Formats: sequence, structure tokens, C-alpha cells
Amino acid sequence: MAPAALLLLLLLYSSSFCHVAAAEEKRRTYIVHMAKSRMPATFAEHGPWYYASLRSVSDSAEILYSYDTVSHGFSTRLTLAEAAALESREGVLSVLPELRYEIHTTRTPKFLGLDESDGHLLQADTASDVVVGVLDTGVWPERKSFDDTGFGPVPAGWKGACEEGKNFKATSCNRKLIGARFFSKGYEASTGPINGTTESRSPRDDNGHGTHTATTSAGSVVTDASLFGFANGTARGMATRARVAAYKVCWAGGCFSSDILAAMDRAVDDGCQVLSLSLGGEMTEYYRDSVAIGAFNAMEKGLLISCSAGNGGPSAFSVTNVAPWIVTVGAGTIDRDFPAYVVLGNGKNYTGVSLYSGKLLPKSPLPFVYAGNASNATDGNFCMQGTLMREKVAGKIVLCDRGIIRRTQKGYLVREAGGAGMVLANTDANGEELVADVHLLPASAVGQKTGDAIRDYLRSDKNPTATIVFGGTKIGVRPSPVVAAFTSRGPNVVTSEILKPDLIAPGVNILAGWTGAAGPTQLSVDSRRVEFNIISGTSMSCPHVSGIAALLKGAHPDWSPAAVRSALMTTAYSAYLGGDGGLLDGATGKAATPFDYGAGHVDPPRAVDPGLIYDLTAEDYIDFLCALNYTSRHIAAVAKRTNYTCDAARTYAVSGLNYPSFAVAFQRASGAGASVATVKHTRTVTNVGDPGTYKSTVTTSVAGGAVKVVVEPAELSFANKGEKRSYTVSFSSPSLPSVLSGFGRLEWSDGKHVVASPIAFTWT
Ligand SMILES: *[C@@H]1O[C@H](CO)[C@@H](O)[C@H](O)[C@H]1NC(C)=O
Ligand SMILES: *[C@@H]1O[C@H](CO)[C@@H](O)[C@H](O)[C@H]1NC(C)=O
Ligand SMILES: *[C@@H]1O[C@H](CO)[C@@H](O)[C@H](O)[C@H]1NC(C)=O
Ligand SMILES: *[C@@H]1O[C@H](CO)[C@@H](O)[C@H](O)[C@H]1NC(C)=O
Ligand SMILES: *[C@@H]1O[C@H](CO)[C@@H](O)[C@H](O)[C@H]1NC(C)=O
Ligand SMILES: *[C@@H]1O[C@H](CO)[C@@H](O)[C@H](O)[C@H]1NC(C)=O
Ligand SMILES: *[C@@H]1O[C@H](CO)[C@@H](O)[C@H](O)[C@H]1NC(C)=O
Repeated sequence: MAPAALLLLLLLYSSSFCHVAAAEEKRRTYIVHMAKSRMPATFAEHGPWYYASLRSVSDSAEILYSYDTVSHGFSTRLTLAEAAALESREGVLSVLPELRYEIHTTRTPKFLGLDESDGHLLQADTASDVVVGVLDTGVWPERKSFDDTGFGPVPAGWKGACEEGKNFKATSCNRKLIGARFFSKGYEASTGPINGTTESRSPRDDNGHGTHTATTSAGSVVTDASLFGFANGTARGMATRARVAAYKVCWAGGCFSSDILAAMDRAVDDGCQVLSLSLGGEMTEYYRDSVAIGAFNAMEKGLLISCSAGNGGPSAFSVTNVAPWIVTVGAGTIDRDFPAYVVLGNGKNYTGVSLYSGKLLPKSPLPFVYAGNASNATDGNFCMQGTLMREKVAGKIVLCDRGIIRRTQKGYLVREAGGAGMVLANTDANGEELVADVHLLPASAVGQKTGDAIRDYLRSDKNPTATIVFGGTKIGVRPSPVVAAFTSRGPNVVTSEILKPDLIAPGVNILAGWTGAAGPTQLSVDSRRVEFNIISGTSMSCPHVSGIAALLKGAHPDWSPAAVRSALMTTAYSAYLGGDGGLLDGATGKAATPFDYGAGHVDPPRAVDPGLIYDLTAEDYIDFLCALNYTSRHIAAVAKRTNYTCDAARTYAVSGLNYPSFAVAFQRASGAGASVATVKHTRTVTNVGDPGTYKSTVTTSVAGGAVKVVVEPAELSFANKGEKRSYTVSFSSPSLPSVLSGFGRLEWSDGKHVVASPIAFTWT
């Protein structure tokens, strides 16, 4: 069920796995979690104890990092036998092998209702005290988006640093970008020393991804921004007054868990309030997942952790970063598009997308050819290196099928073979998903249906011709948002009773700051340099939510991370604000579901005043771990509680976790279909608005069978702010429906606020 181990969270890449040399006596990196309180009395400090534990299994292994904030322990290089020996030592909780993770904006503030005019609530005076830590590929500090004009001194208590290194000075930071660090020990231990000609051993962003995510979350206002004229306007991050700290953990060879954990450790100590991680890895139990472990302890210290859901959609069961103490963010489109029309010799005119800017094609149509018929390779339709035959493509427009290699790389190869232009057509692997690219030759990307129509034309016409006409930037596209085809979907593989993703935010064709070290396509042949770039992925939607969370933290400094997430989720919308019905799925064109968008699309102006919140403490999450039957050792590894034992007299239930959404798992009753299965969830809401009475309404849509939902009590009255009220929802499935899943929505309203929770039913 679980897809491949490593997920690519940025759509630009096709992955290139670096195989780690089998040298160094087959040693690999391990993260060793230690039970700090079990330190023998013979040691006065933890450092010597860690070192002695390591020496007891290896004479030569060195400590890469020592962890002390979000985790206790260290990372080191061991053989398999040494790792096994260490795991059985007193005080050692777990010895986890290093995992490799992968990295998975201007119109968006307006699209999100964050205009200067009505955003005042969200730009509280305390906004500039909030620091967003971005764990990514580093930062390009010279970008205008890091201009600190008008910023006061760095927040009191900030302990971060601006680390020097290759191409990066201690003076590169300012009052906007208040910190920059890099973490490369795990990376270098696994792949060898960094090659200084291709990568900077410093916080410098040679890739672009980190600058994009950092400026999306908290970039300053930059007027007259655009990418070659596309998406022109004022560029700004979500939290323009918040501060940014960059933690470089992702390198050309990936992002390594020992580095990520070290960065989370530092970011908490430095004083960040929000952490933004546009990266992901395996779906695994929380006690094996370094991001989940780091996030738990950061959450306990009051930080909100926002992570990308992954780009594994539209496949079901693809969502990653699913720990319930993380905000898991999927992606949607915005109301902006970059049309590029493919006009065929038969007069048909099809709409695709492109960010090509350069010499245009002649008005009169050019000869048009299918790459599969212009190559000497069996998979020539994909326009890969060395397959296109110059004599068959020179001067022509070439139709390439999408897949296998990067989209912009195909355009480059068509150009190298003498082609004049490219139509990039989806196959069923990508369906109708369209992502605009900064191609090196005139090109348009079209969906599968359009692609099939064009392939038909190529087959049926003796002398096919075509041209491509570029439509620039179009605003006001409806319906929008549409759930991005690529965004990872539920159900949640790790804990099916927690609905993930939590919500969606803009992640398609987002304009934000870029590196000066790479062109907008990131191809080495692309010598163009741009201040802003337009890219897509859940990597782009995550920092939107990180920035909006920073706004909420600024407006409500006393809110817990769970309260902030609750406000984001219960005010999200799952039907078009303009009344065009429920949100659509870009992959199918049909109605999307909570498995695609969670609670819905983020709505910042409403999130600032949610009425009620579903709060959670670290202890509540530990009860959740007890409900998962975690052992003391597992709990210690996740939550740093030594000798924690779940209360044998208590009944723990995942359905009791005070989550702002409901994933209701009905067990198929054995035998008799007539038996009624009932599942109860309990919740507690805290009033953060005015006194009032909230009434509940429930709607469900389950094909082939009704689910009965009873909310008790059906009304909740609050006399004061801060008051808590509990309720129970009973979901009864009278008989097996013909479908495996169904959906619903529970709303509490006082006439002013609507506090909405999505419901997903599954029958297993
Ligand atoms: C570093 O990268 C450059 C450019 O790719 C290459 O020419 C050089 O050989 C590399 N150096 C090492 C030590 O690998
Ligand atoms: C973008 O540029 C076009 C053409 O110059 C102009 O008409 C439009 O108003 C600009 N849009 C914004 C938001 O500045
Ligand atoms: C193709 O269609 C688009 C919009 O549907 C239109 O703006 C454009 O002018 C058309 N181009 C041609 C050559 O028909
Ligand atoms: C296919 O054609 C390309 C371009 O003409 C050429 O470089 C390559 O060697 C050919 N490959 C084969 C297998 O014939
Ligand atoms: C490819 O070439 C074959 C043989 O000439 C032709 O029958 C077929 O229609 C072509 N296919 C496309 C998609 O152009
Ligand atoms: C935990 O153990 C109890 C008792 O054995 C069992 O009923 C329950 O299903 C288990 N829960 C999970 C999530 O495995
Ligand atoms: C934790 O448990 C171990 C083994 O059961 C015991 O030796 C130790 O004293 C306990 N530590 C604490 C702090 O309770």
C-alpha cells in the first residue's frame, strides 16, 4: 500500500539517486536516541556518557551531532553489528538508520484575502516578534524579498546566528533574515566531502527551492515583481512582518535525517515559533521518523510545524508527514493561469500552459511531428537524450509525451535536435495536471484529453502542422482553487483514524524569490538568472501555511500550535466562495473529497477569528501514542519521556484525540450485514470568541447507505472566553454501503462563526 520510500516533493525534479559508496567498512549513519534520565551516576554530563556508549561498540566511530533539544542522543557512523550492539546497551532507546528525504508566489496574498486593507487584524504589532524557521536548501540573502527596511531590532531572546561559509558572510543577515545556518555532517558522512565548485558549504542557496519557500512564507513586499513579465505585480510573502531564519539541510544529494534533526534542535533553541519543512520521506511509525520526533518536541516547546503533504497524487494513500502534531499541507491552484494555445493545421485551437518568453514562432503553422515517430528508440516518445533524429525534427514542432525526465529538459533536447517548438502532452500518468514551465524553446503543456486529440490529428493528417500562441498571464480563472492533481491524498497509511492532509493552500505556479546560482529551469544549460521564479509543488503550499500560522501567532501569541492549526482548519472552505459548488479535483475534474483537501482551502481572514478551537497538549498526544499501543521505549523515543507507562486502567482511543477533523473507521461486521456498527468520537472545544450559543449541523454524503450521526449535546453555550465544552459524536453505519468510503461535515455555528470539521468514513 505504501508508495516508494522516497517521495519527491518538488515537481521540478526527476530524482537522481546518488548511490552511497560501499566503502568505509560498510558503515552507515545512525541516529541514536538515548534515555537521558538513565545516565549512570558515574557520569556527570551527557556528552561523556554518549561517547562512552559509542566507544563500547566501536573504537573509531566519531559523533557527528549531539542532540539535546528536540531529541536526546547523537548520530554516528557504525557497521550493522555495531549498531545492533549499541541498541542493546542500557539507556539506548533506538538506533535508527539515516534516512534520505527529498525536497518536495505575488497573486497569492490577494487570492487569500490578505490585502493590505482588510489584513490589518493579521498584522498585529506582535507580528514582527514571530520567527519562521525554514529547513530547506538555504537562502539567497541579497533578494529584495529580504529587505529589512522598517524592521526593528531582532526579537529579544533570539539566539540564532548567521554562519559564515563559502559565498556567505556573517553580514549576509539583517533584521528580516535574522538567521542562517547549515547542516552538512550527515550529508558529507554519507556522500563524501562537498564539491565546492557545485555547492556552497554554507547557508547559500545554490538550488532556488529554499529561497522560494522562505520568501513565500515571510518575504517582504517587492513591487514590480515578475518572471519575464509573467505574474507581474507586487510580490510578498504571507507574513511580511515576521522574521525568517534559514536552516540549510537539503543538498544536491538530498536531505539527511541526522542533519534535519540537528537543524530542528537548533531552530528550537534559537527561538523560532514556526518551522516550515517542504520535504518528506518514508511513511513509517512515528518512533522511526526523525521529522515526527523532532516535530513532537518542537511542538511541546510551543512551535508550530508545517510540512508538505507530498507530490504523490492523485494516487490514494500517498500523503506523508502525517503525525498528528504536524500541520500537513496539500496544494491547490489559484485564479491565475499562463495559457499557451496550440493551434493545429485543421483549425482546432487547444489551450495548454507555458512560461516561455523569447522569440515567438512564426504566425504561419510549422510542420508538426510525434516524437515517437521521429526517433530511433522504442521510448522515443519521451524525447530523451540522444533519441530524437535531427532529420525528422529539424524546423518542426515536436509532440513529446510527459514522463521519465524533466519537462524542461525535453524542451532543451528538442531544441538541440533542431526542433522549433514542443507540445508536451500528458499521458494517463499525469491526467489533466498542468504545470507551467520556463521552457528554453516555444512550448506548451497540455492535458491528457487534449494530448489524445492532438495525437489523433497527428495520426490522421498526412501533413500535420501547428503553431503555439502565448497568452501571457490570465487572472480570474474559475473555478479556483482546484485541488492540484499532484498533491498527495489520504487515507492516512500510518494512522487511518487521523484525517490527512489537514488542509490545502496555493501550490501551483507560485512566484517567489529565486537563487542567483541557477536558472529558472535549474538546467545547467540554462544561463538565465532571475530574481523571481514560478514553480509548483506541495513544497510551495507548505510555506504559505507556515506564513499564515506566523500571522495567527502574531495576532494570538497565547495560542498553542494545536489552536493555530484548529483555527486554520475549521475556517477552511470546501465549497467555492463564489457559489460554484464543492471544490473540484484537478486530476479528474470531478468533486474532490476530504481525502484530497482535508478541511478545505485555507482562508486567513476567517482563521484569525474562528470562534471555537480544538486544543491539544503534549500529554494529549502521548495518550494518542498509548492508544496506538506504543511501548514505553517507543514513547521515550518520540516524546523524550523516560519510563512513561500508559495507565492500564484507562481506555485510550485514537477517536478521543481532540482533532479538528474526523476519520471514522467502521469495521465490517463479521457475518450479518444487518448489524449496526457505531463509532464514537469525543471532542472538547474552547471558546476564543464572544459568549454565545453554538448549534451543530451535520451533513453526510455516502452513496448507497446512510450513516446516522448524533451529536450530544447538540448545542453548546459559552458564557466566557476560554470556557471549554465537550461533546460526543456517534456515527452509526446501519449496513454495508456499496462504497468503501463516504464523507460528511460537522458544523458548529453561533450565527456569526462557522466552526467546520470534515468527516471521512471508511469501511474496512
Ligand atoms: C567538482 O565538480 C566539478 C564540476 O562538476 C568537477 O569538474 C570536479 O571534478 C569536481 N571535483 C571533485 C573533487 O569531485
Ligand atoms: C501586468 O502587466 C500588464 C501588461 O503590462 C498590465 O496590463 C497589468 O496591469 C499588470 N498587472 C499588474 C497586477 O500589475
Ligand atoms: C485560441 O483560443 C484562444 C482562447 O480560447 C484565443 O484567445 C486565441 O485567439 C485563439 N487563437 C487562434 C489562433 O485561434
Ligand atoms: C539515434 O539517433 C541519434 C541522433 O541522430 C544518434 O545520436 C544515436 O546514436 C542514434 N541511436 C541509435 C541506437 O541508432
Ligand atoms: C507514426 O508513423 C506511422 C507510420 O508512418 C503512422 O502510421 C502513425 O500514424 C504515426 N503516428 C503518429 C502519432 O504520428
Ligand atoms: C491496542 O491493543 C488493544 C488491546 O490488545 C487492541 O484492542 C487495539 O486494537 C490495539 N490498538 C491498535 C491501534 O493497534
Ligand atoms: C526507569 O526504569 C528502569 C528499568 O525499569 C529503572 O532501573 C529506573 O530506575 C527507572 N528510572 C526512573 C527515572 O524511574
